[in-house]
Amino acid sequence: MLNKQRISIKQAKPGLIVSDDIYNSTNQLVISKGVMLTDRIITRLKFNSISEFNIIQETKEPLMPVKETSYSQKVRESIEFQEFQSAFTEQVDTFKNEFNKLTDKNEPIDIDGLLEHTSDLLHKTRNGIHVFDMLHCMRQYDDITYVHCMNVSLLCNVFGQWLKLPDKDLEVLTLAGLLHDVGKLSLPGELINKQEKLTASDYITIKTHPIQGYNILKNKGLDPRIANAALMHHERCDGSGYPYKIKGDEIEPFAKIIGIVDVYDAMTSARVYRPALSPFEAISVFESEGLQKYDPAYILLFLEKIVQAYVGNRVRLSNGKEGEIRLINKQALSKPVIQLASSFLDLSKEKDLKVEALL
Ligand SMILES: [Fe+2]
Ligand SMILES: [Fe+2]
Repeated sequence: MLNKQRISIKQAKPGLIVSDDIYNSTNQLVISKGVMLTDRIITRLKFNSISEFNIIQETKEPLMPVKETSYSQKVRESIEFQEFQSAFTEQVDTFKNEFNKLTDKNEPIDIDGLLEHTSDLLHKTRNGIHVFDMLHCMRQYDDITYVHCMNVSLLCNVFGQWLKLPDKDLEVLTLAGLLHDVGKLSLPGELINKQEKLTASDYITIKTHPIQGYNILKNKGLDPRIANAALMHHERCDGSGYPYKIKGDEIEPFAKIIGIVDVYDAMTSARVYRPALSPFEAISVFESEGLQKYDPAYILLFLEKIVQAYVGNRVRLSNGKEGEIRLINKQALSKPVIQLASSFLDLSKEKDLKVEALL
């Protein structure tokens, strides 16, 4: 059973989980609820003069049936998730070593070894949207680049299956997802893990990672789509991306797929400065930022598959009411039709209402 306990900063130690958002004296969010303490986060709390805060404490009492647990809690409590999380943590550690070797020009690339990480994890899940749910419920990791690359690789594999790609292409896409941000290894570590607001010059440096990645991968004897995906995953169909602002068909198809998964993972993973967005919040961000940035053949299928998976699920709306997702609306995927106690509510007709949380 989970209880809250108030502790002083002196009692803080890595591994404890924060139960409420923590703000500093100027009301800025320091750490979001649900984040696991690390040495770095404890330093951050001290730096912000936080003297005490609440943590989640596990007691030895048996689990009591809870009246209404949130969707994420249900996923987190499942044995399947716990196994996935520990396998994931293990895989990240070994992946980290192999990933770092890639920058060495003379080191041959071990494709099978790299793909093993993804396939091992995929075998631990029921696959499909379940992978999305599990990744969404993961605690926040410090090794952001490695974890993000593993997430993107797993999500690319699921997306590639939705696209019915032949096995060989699916393998190339999964590997391309795993390696898409390898160029970040060439950037200063302090910049990649920087927790303060990035400056204009930081952005200029970060935006070189696609070209750096391409240079690392181009002569490794890999399928050329892999280096091209690293080069083009930040390009957008309407020409609003980088580094070359190319458009539509000029962009490698695998780069378009990775571009979508990349943004989705960044939004739905917890970060030190904000909690993870729910799938519906993420879809609504895609819609408000403009779907024309993405290839319609990919983005519509991707978002529709995610929404479709939650039809029949109970949700809480932004006005506090609860209901069940009944029908999806292809013109406004983040705004499905909801069945309330005695009526139906079409969210696409309610400007100020949205799905706030899955229950
Ligand atoms: Fe990137
Ligand atoms: Fe990325």
